[in-house]
Amino acid sequence: MGKVAVGLAVGVAVAACAVATVVVGRRIRSRRKWRRVVGVLKELEQSCETTVGRLRQVVDAMAVEMHAGLASDGGSKLKMLLTFVDKLPNGSEKGTYYALDLGGTNFRVLRVKLEGTRSSTLEHDVYRQPIPQDLMTGSSEDLFDFIASSLKEFVEREGDISELSLDRRRELGFTFSFPVKQMSVSSGTLLKWTKGFSIEDMVGREIAGCLEKAMTRKGLNMRVAALVNDSVGSLALGHYHDTDTVAAVIIGTGTNACYLERTDAIIKSQGLLTTSGGMVVNMEWGNFWSSHLPRTVYDIELDADSPNPNDQGFEKLISGMYLGDVVRRVIVRMSQESDIFDPISSKLSMPFILRTPLIAAMHEDDSPDLEEVRRILRDNLEIPDVPLKVRKLIVKVCDVVTRRAARLAAAGIVGILKKIGRDGSGGIAGGRSRSDQKMRRTVVAMEGGLYTGYTMFRDYLHEALTEILGEDIAQHVIIKVTEDGSAMGAALLAASHSSYPVDSVQLL
Ligand code: BGC
Repeated sequence: MGKVAVGLAVGVAVAACAVATVVVGRRIRSRRKWRRVVGVLKELEQSCETTVGRLRQVVDAMAVEMHAGLASDGGSKLKMLLTFVDKLPNGSEKGTYYALDLGGTNFRVLRVKLEGTRSSTLEHDVYRQPIPQDLMTGSSEDLFDFIASSLKEFVEREGDISELSLDRRRELGFTFSFPVKQMSVSSGTLLKWTKGFSIEDMVGREIAGCLEKAMTRKGLNMRVAALVNDSVGSLALGHYHDTDTVAAVIIGTGTNACYLERTDAIIKSQGLLTTSGGMVVNMEWGNFWSSHLPRTVYDIELDADSPNPNDQGFEKLISGMYLGDVVRRVIVRMSQESDIFDPISSKLSMPFILRTPLIAAMHEDDSPDLEEVRRILRDNLEIPDVPLKVRKLIVKVCDVVTRRAARLAAAGIVGILKKIGRDGSGGIAGGRSRSDQKMRRTVVAMEGGLYTGYTMFRDYLHEALTEILGEDIAQHVIIKVTEDGSAMGAALLAASHSSYPVDSVQLL
């Protein structure tokens, strides 16, 4: 072999080595980056961990905070608000009543005809409308004028109004799903806004009065007979259909729960007398907090960037308004650790761009290639095609965040059951275990899109309930969805708190 040939062979070998080094180097770098991304997931899984032991600590903390919130105003982050609802509908309600439901992204108006006997289906008409974004942060007059106009249109579209006697004002149940300090069953002042609403001039004002003034401005002669939280509406409808219903939980844009409490346990309102000996308490559990709650850096960042930092901590871990944004923040972190999402779309840095229904759709994508995940990443986040393994990773992130939320919600529910002695243990003040005693059938009314529209969420919640309570007890706890309950229940409560005696109501 001549020198030239040897030189050539050496040159080729060197070049091949160089190429190989580059390729191997790239592979090593890419593996390292992938490992970092997987590391982000592992870290997330660890910090979202909800072992049954931890869930039981959350159960105990919830029950303890409920006691504290009932003992004194400000005694706990749980407000435990009085509702002045001391009796729940039982089917004897009669007449035509209206409801207006304000509290999320939509508002609803409905009319229901009650026949005076319990009926498994309640005949009603509903009208839904989205709330324009600017009204959620504008002035109270604008918001209430808008609502009153829609209500007026609804009433005017009514066909035969002859069923209501002419001298009778229409009565309305107003579902206002924010923390309200009630003065009576039909009046109360707004304590604070949640869920992205922020109309400063409303805080501290009496809500029913604001609506009645707006109705007068629009020439609508209607009276607010009941001002209720959505959870209370849900409990009312749940109880109407099933008298074993003792609590109601909302898991939608926001989250909350209410339950039936004995008046003598409401220490902060000593001397509170009701004919039934009980009262529905609006817990405002969205604001619950405990050091046992598993919290990640993403939750801390989300809270700091939110309009209400250090507020609604439980809600930020659980509800539909926030889950999508926690997932988005994890994806952002993954994109910082590696180039798997390159070129990084500016959409990814937009808060709340990844809404929770999208998380549900990705999580529940059962196509072998995760086509729905690909579509959502492309259409909603402008992330171009990513490999299947990355799409799988994103599904896993949705799973971790959703599973934590559902399991914590389950712990919250068991916390309420514990407080009222329906968890099979005899209650936190009970001392000796009563697990040998017969557990009573216990129904919890449930409402909200996260539970009704997200199967995985629902399954995780049920699974955790059984894990915490044990199968023997869990079989007596029934979660029942109340459809349109928050509004229908408000109409029912308007009926039971009507200013017209039942006899004066014209039969339908
Ligand atoms: C509000 C509650 C409401 C819940 C569900 C929370 O943000 O504070 O009053 O019941 O959302 O709509």
